[in-house]
Amino acid sequence: MASKTSFSSQEVNNARFNAEAAAWDSNPTTVESTKKALEAIMRYVPELAQGRGKDLDVLEIGCGTGLLSMQLAPHVRSLVGVDTSDGMIDAFNKKVAALPDPDKANMATVNVLMEEADDVHVQGAAAALATRRGETGKDVPYRFDLVVSHLTLHHVPEMAPLIATLFNSLKSGGRIALTDYEDFGPEAIPFHPKSKREGVERHGIKRDELEIIIDGTGFNEVRVEQAFVLRKEVEAEDGEPEREMDFPFLIGLGQRS
Ligand SMILES: C[S@@+](CC[C@H](N)C(=O)[O-])C[C@H]1O[C@@H](n2cnc3c(N)ncnc32)[C@H](O)[C@@H]1O
Repeated sequence: MASKTSFSSQEVNNARFNAEAAAWDSNPTTVESTKKALEAIMRYVPELAQGRGKDLDVLEIGCGTGLLSMQLAPHVRSLVGVDTSDGMIDAFNKKVAALPDPDKANMATVNVLMEEADDVHVQGAAAALATRRGETGKDVPYRFDLVVSHLTLHHVPEMAPLIATLFNSLKSGGRIALTDYEDFGPEAIPFHPKSKREGVERHGIKRDELEIIIDGTGFNEVRVEQAFVLRKEVEAEDGEPEREMDFPFLIGLGQRS
């Protein structure tokens, strides 16, 4: 039986991200990483690369304060951001409320651990956005054209069930484009300072592991490759001084037939 002081990684993560939400956007490296993730998504997703993004309904897993979402939303038709931290979702919602016309925003947020494509909260958010753009109840349950997720997979205890949920959340022809830092060996561990490692399920994503999972889920056109490199300051540890390191980031791609 779990002791009173034993917390699940989800609880540890929620506590960490609730505490960090207010200052999240003031970290220049975090901002830089979402800018690079956006550039990668714009490059790798054919509809976006070809300027056809305005037909895309997007689901984002681990949207946080909306750093990536706010940059991606102008390029697509709609974006539903899902996150398990209410602090992060509150920060995101405040940014939407501060937009010139928040009632017309093409973004909505959901504070849930999404375990099925028909999750009622996600369905409700997708329905609200569809109503806002004048659609009435067609194509239910709602499915998406694109699922993105940045710097979230390394927090997820089991990637395979999540990626199966993402598969089921897609329309036929829909794609995933998932970005996170690569596990390129023990050198990847300092990506997080020691104080933030507790809720980290894996020190980056192993290229082969992600490819096998995406492939095994039933996706076509599976590719996992380096999308960009992020330079990040890491703390002094184990005799190594404080220094800057280059961290490779992967993009995991697949299309539902
Ligand atoms: C490192 S932050 C990245 C946030 C955002 N994508 C960004 O780049 O600024 C990871 C986010 O994933 C969320 N998260 C962790 N596990 C999750 C899960 N299973 N489902 C949805 N969100 C999750 C956390 O609450 C946190 O907001």
